[in-house]
Amino acid sequence: MNNITFLIKKICCIGAGYVGGPTMSVIAENCPDINVTLVDLDEKKINDWNNSDLNKLPVYEPGLKNLVEKNRNINLFFTTNLNQSISEADIVFISVNTPTKTNGLGSGYASDLKWVESSARTVAKYASGHTIIVEKSTVPVRTAELIKSILSSSCNISEGNNSKTFSVLSSPEFLAEGTAIKDLENPDRVLIGGEDEYAIEQLSLLYQKWIPKNKIFITNVWSSELSKLTANAFLAQRISSINAMSALCEPTGADIKEVSRAIGADSRIGTKFLNAGPGFGGSCFQKDLLNMIYLSRFYGLEEVANYWEQVILLNEWQKKRISKLIIETFYGTVSLKKIGVLGFAFKSNTNDTRESPSISIVNELLENGASVVIHDPKVSEKQISKFFDNEKIGQSNSNFEGRWRYTSDLNLLFKDADAIIILTEWEDYLHIKWKIMSKLMRKPSWLFDTRGIVEEEKLNGSNINFWRVGKGFIKTT
Ligand code: NAD
Ligand code: UDX
Repeated sequence: MNNITFLIKKICCIGAGYVGGPTMSVIAENCPDINVTLVDLDEKKINDWNNSDLNKLPVYEPGLKNLVEKNRNINLFFTTNLNQSISEADIVFISVNTPTKTNGLGSGYASDLKWVESSARTVAKYASGHTIIVEKSTVPVRTAELIKSILSSSCNISEGNNSKTFSVLSSPEFLAEGTAIKDLENPDRVLIGGEDEYAIEQLSLLYQKWIPKNKIFITNVWSSELSKLTANAFLAQRISSINAMSALCEPTGADIKEVSRAIGADSRIGTKFLNAGPGFGGSCFQKDLLNMIYLSRFYGLEEVANYWEQVILLNEWQKKRISKLIIETFYGTVSLKKIGVLGFAFKSNTNDTRESPSISIVNELLENGASVVIHDPKVSEKQISKFFDNEKIGQSNSNFEGRWRYTSDLNLLFKDADAIIILTEWEDYLHIKWKIMSKLMRKPSWLFDTRGIVEEEKLNGSNINFWRVGKGFIKTT
C-alpha cells in the first residue's frame, strides 16, 4: 500500500445536514486542492446553505460560519444537482438520515435505511468511472452489503458502460453536536472499514491532510459499523448511570456533583460524560441503542437486548420524574402557573431539537395546564411550534392555560413566573442575575435547575426556592 498516489480531486457528499455540512466544511478547509460538493434533496436547506446571511445557515455550530464564509463557492459548493455532482466525484460520502423505523418490520427499533438505499441507487445510476462510496451515516451492521448489492446490480445492467466500478467503505462519524468543528479538526480517532486496499489508502490519505496517521484505524467493515453503535451505547449508558445516581443522591443528602468528581478522578472511569441532567436527547443515542437492541434480538441475544434497553427506559424515567417533581412541588396542579423554560435545544451550542428532553418535559407541563414561556438562544419559535399544537393542548384563555409562548426577552419570561426551569446548559444562563430577575417573579417562586449549572451562592438574597438535579431542594439565604 506504500506507493499509492493520492488521486482524489472531487468529493460529493449526499446529505447536507448536521453531519454532512460540518464534515465537508472541514474537508474543504483542509484540502484546498479538492472540490467538495454537498448535495441534498431539500431545496430550502440548500438555499439556506447558500444564503449570503451566514446567520441563516441551517446548522448552528461554533466555528462553522467562518469555514463556510471562507470556502463557499471556492472549493465548497451546495447544490440540489445530485446527478452532476455524483458523476464527477472520485469519492461519494453518504451522510443521509437513518432514523428509527416507524412502521413495518422492526418498527420502533430498527433503523430506516430507505434514504441510504435511495442514495445508493442514485450513485449507481449517475456515477462514472471508479467511485469510492463511504458510509458516513450510522447504519446497522452489514449495511455496506446492501449498498454493494445495489451498486453491483447497477454495474451488471449498466447500459453498455462496463467501466463503472465501485468500492464501498465504512467510515462512521463520531462528532458531537455543539463541538462538531473541534471534533472533526482534532478527532480522537477515525475509522475506515473495508477490504479494497486502494480505496482504504485513498480515504486514509484524504484524512491525513489534517489528521495524524496513528489516529486512523483500519478495520473490517462490520467492526467499523458496530464500533459506532457501541460507542454511542457506552456513552448513553454512562448518562443513564449518572442520572440513576442523581435520583439516589436527592433523598439521601448526597450531591451528584461531588459523587461525579469523586468517581471521575479514578482514571479507569474518567471525568467526561458524568453530568447529571434531564436525560439524554439528540438524534443519535436513542436511535442507535434501539438499533442495537433490534440487532441483538435478531441474533437471538435477548439478554443483551434487555441490558441495553434498560439504558433507554432509565432515560425516559429521568424525564418523567423531573416533570412529575415540578408538578408535585405545586401540590399537583400547575394549571394557573406560569412556567419559564430556559433552553429547548437538546444540549448547548446547537440549534438541534431532535429528541430534546425539553419536548417531553414541556409537554407534560402543558398537559397539566401550565402556561409555558420558552426561551432558547438558537432555536426559533417556528422550530418549537413543530412539537406542540397550541390549538389542541389544554383550554385556551387569557392566561394561556395549557398553552405555550416563545420569547427572546428574558424579562418577559421571568415576569410573573411562578417557576423557572433550566433545561439546556446555555452559557447565557450562567450570567443571569437571580437577585434582580427574581423581583419580576410571582412569590413564592421556584428555580428547577435540571443541568446543575447554577451555583447556590448566586441565589443568595433572591428569595427563590431552589431545586437542583442530583442534590434536591437546597436552602438558600
Ligand atoms: P440530517 O437529517 O441533519 O441530514 C440528513 C440530510 O440528508 C437531510 O438534509 C436530507 O434531506 C438528506 N437526504 C436524505 N436522503 C437523501 C437523498 N436520497 N439524496 C440527497 N439528500 C438526502 O441528519 P444528520 O444528523 O446529519 O445525520 C446523518 C447521519 O449521520 C445519520 O445516520 C446519523 O445517525 C449519523 N450521525 C449523526 C450525528 C449527529 O450528531 N447528528 C453524529 C454522528 C453520526
Ligand atoms: C453523540 C456522541 O457523543 C457522538 O460521538 C456521536 O457521533 C453522535 O451522538 P451528540 O448527541 O451530538 O453526540 O451530543 P452528546 O454530547 O453526546 O450529548 C448527547 C446528550 O447527552 C445530550 O442531550 C447531552 O445534554 C446529554 N449529556 C451529555 C448529559 O446529560 N450529560 C453528559 O455528561 C453528557
